[in-house]
Amino acid sequence: MTCRRDPVITIDGPAGAGKSTTAREVARRLGFRLVDTGALYRALAWALMRAGVSPEDEQGVGALLARTTVELADMGDDGGADGGAGWRVLVNGRDVTAEIRTPEIALTTSRLTALRAVRDKMTPLQRGLAAAGGVVLEGRDTGSVVCPDAEVKVYLDADLTERARRRRDELAAHGLPADYESVKAEVALRDRQDMERELAPLRKPPGAVTVDSTALSTEAVVLRILDAVEQARCCTRS
Ligand code: C5P
Repeated sequence: MTCRRDPVITIDGPAGAGKSTTAREVARRLGFRLVDTGALYRALAWALMRAGVSPEDEQGVGALLARTTVELADMGDDGGADGGAGWRVLVNGRDVTAEIRTPEIALTTSRLTALRAVRDKMTPLQRGLAAAGGVVLEGRDTGSVVCPDAEVKVYLDADLTERARRRRDELAAHGLPADYESVKAEVALRDRQDMERELAPLRKPPGAVTVDSTALSTEAVVLRILDAVEQARCCTRS
């Protein structure tokens, strides 16, 4: 008799490696829930900037955390600002899905997420969203810290030049045109901040499958991940 929950899949990697597109497609094909952990952190950064609090002001950040709720609301597949993924990010009930995509928010998020108080609030929330299984989590530490026991862990990487090109195109698609060199500098700075921080740094989780997407289509990356899911299911089927 099997009574195992559906698998948890984690996809981590640096900015622009293709995590969001890939995770959305993998979740869609499996009928799983998608948890974009970066969006949750970006939402907190949005609240911080709106309140005029600096990420270095730990007391101010603590007070803000105490009065801020961040949630992913499932709205069905309506093709909206989330690229059709069917969810919205809410801060104290306000929809900020589109507003959190700017490079400024990205950089503030990267500074904010180095703080223990921030991770202590968000990690349990993300674990709760993953608890029932049948979920794809994407971010920087989902396979190393949030769900180290996930059935399938993926580390998605790509060359910096290719990641910067993708980020520029993604920003343009959101109506935020930017030149290639400044996007590349922002991505490189975020890589450094995310990899060198003490808490939950970006790194390949033990047991993760590495996929280098530099020269791969989204479809090829998705198929590799679905293959890893199938293999994991075979191993756990009884
Ligand atoms: O993936 P995204 O670009 O939306 O992430 C924004 C920032 O959020 C990252 O640069 C990183 O600093 C932070 N983040 C994190 N842990 C995660 C997901 C995102 O620290 N699991």
